[in-house]
Amino acid sequence: MSGIVSSTFFSPTHTSRTIARTLAAELAQRLGKAVEETDWTLPAGRGHARALGPDDVLVLGFPVYSGRMPELLEASMAGLTGRGTPAVVAAVYGNRAYEDALLEARDMLTANGFVVTAGGAFIGEHSFSRKVAAGRPDAGDLALARDFAQRAAAKIATGAPAEVAIIGDRPYRDRWPGLVVKPKTTDDCTECMTCAEGCPAGVISFDNPREAGDGCLRCMACVKHCPAGAKYFDDEKLLGFATLLETKFMDRKEPELFV
Ligand SMILES: Cc1cc2nc3c(=O)[nH]c(=O)nc-3n(C[C@H](O)[C@H](O)[C@H](O)COP(=O)(O)O)c2cc1C
Ligand code: SF4
Ligand code: SF4
Repeated sequence: MSGIVSSTFFSPTHTSRTIARTLAAELAQRLGKAVEETDWTLPAGRGHARALGPDDVLVLGFPVYSGRMPELLEASMAGLTGRGTPAVVAAVYGNRAYEDALLEARDMLTANGFVVTAGGAFIGEHSFSRKVAAGRPDAGDLALARDFAQRAAAKIATGAPAEVAIIGDRPYRDRWPGLVVKPKTTDDCTECMTCAEGCPAGVISFDNPREAGDGCLRCMACVKHCPAGAKYFDDEKLLGFATLLETKFMDRKEPELFV
């Protein structure tokens, strides 16, 4: 069978990437196609036109921000087009709620020529905390992801997969007002530039990685990936929200899978 599986994701702290890669690998194996990866995480990777055909399959993975798709994906989503192309969508959320994110993704993809054949809400360690959904997706999540991909592949292999019903409301919920925050840096910084190279908003200075411009997404890539543990946030609202999550959202949620 010709065509590819396009593994497309935005994933500052790599949980959505793990899910997208797992789904894409399983779909590719089942459908006899090769995987091509499109990484929207860094600014240079976003906003390019990408057209998929009827023999291709799209896997789209992204984190839930405010119960929605991340706003900065709008241009990339607008440039992603299909021609009756089956799509498998994964929204990865931090054990609180995914609300309208999956439905929003399905609506955008449908408007652009995809047939959203399967959709899953998976759980990833919360960006704001190392305790909420710590270490997820874990082996159990990945086993469920592979099973989900197998069921999606069987549906796609019929040649005429139906669109899947997905939970969510329209109009979509309002996004939380963005906090204007910047990360801080301790004296442990070694100027390795990992944070500047990996910042999805491109706001950390390459001249001085202790400095950041406006536009931080609060994605926590810089905090979680700093080898020296030197990046942190001290914004009270952000820390208060992390504490709330660590108080109220510790009970394990399981993936919800629609095929
Ligand atoms: C700005 C922001 C908003 C978020 N909003 C939600 C949310 O509404 N519900 C939730 O459960 N998790 C939320 N999260 C957590 C992420 O969805 C979750 O940690 C995800 O696994 C991160 O994906 P990544 O590893 O691909 O970056 C939010 C994270 C950020 C940075
Ligand atoms: S990743 Fe950490 S150590 Fe490296 S430049 Fe950034 S703050 Fe400094
Ligand atoms: S500065 Fe903000 S946007 Fe950039 S990596 Fe850190 S948390 Fe993410």
